[in-house]
Amino acid sequence: MNLYINQLQKKADFRDAIYSGAVFLDTNLETARQLCAFAQESITVAFDGETDHPSLHKMMPVEEFVARVTRLKGQFTNSQRVKDLIQGFVHEIGLDPREYIFDVPRLRVVPHYNYLHAGVSYAYKPHRDTWYGGVDCQINTWMPVYTIRPDQTMMINPAYFDKPVQNTSKDWSLDDWINNQRHKAKENLTEEVRMHPVPLGDIDASSEIRIAGNTGEILTFSGSHLHGTVPNYTEQTRFSVDFRLMHLDDLRHKRGAPNVDSACPDVGAGFKDYFHAHDFSNFQGIQQ
Ligand SMILES: [Fe+2]
Repeated sequence: MNLYINQLQKKADFRDAIYSGAVFLDTNLETARQLCAFAQESITVAFDGETDHPSLHKMMPVEEFVARVTRLKGQFTNSQRVKDLIQGFVHEIGLDPREYIFDVPRLRVVPHYNYLHAGVSYAYKPHRDTWYGGVDCQINTWMPVYTIRPDQTMMINPAYFDKPVQNTSKDWSLDDWINNQRHKAKENLTEEVRMHPVPLGDIDASSEIRIAGNTGEILTFSGSHLHGTVPNYTEQTRFSVDFRLMHLDDLRHKRGAPNVDSACPDVGAGFKDYFHAHDFSNFQGIQQ
């Protein structure tokens, strides 16, 4: 796997690299830092002024934690500020916002596994986003809000980029997830009872990559990479921000990473959550 360091702004054909499995790590992007600063502010507000964010789970029962995280996620994702910052990110790396759409950003909160690993803090098993109805040209970003360790991060397993994994994506519906399952996150306190697309066999973790960065150091990679949550057994809650970009022309012409094993029946059902990067109008889907 190829890893590019601080080259997102310099590599005009970065999408081709992403679609072939390359990962970009950018440590110096102002808009990524600002997204994390805004995440920090939002967490403080959601937890009544408390600023020791990595210790929040030690201060309250899990029910209260889940209620506050639910509100926090909604407020962060739906704020105008994050949309402005994503547009700023597109500009900062030298892209034309008229050519891109983006998915609303997510703030993920991963406390100690035994405190909570379901619902609002679901620990994702190894998956490709295409199993969840993503398209082959989906470009993922991911950044930690605070400095993290390898045992708290998100893992990428590049050995499977072009190697099929038997999985349950054909039995999973994005439409059902959006309309019936997603809002049940807060009901899942001890165990995740919602169905997810998952691998059917064992995954060889020997070539897993765990990148442990600092605030706002952003990873950019294909949503088709096999990736997942590393179960957090540390005493520090992990916070991260991620969002997705798609190039309109690549979407139209079905360019992107190879699909080696995804069979989700309603790819694209999530398009209504996408916005045009230049004017934030809702994406209406591809006109045929
Ligand atoms: Fe994912």
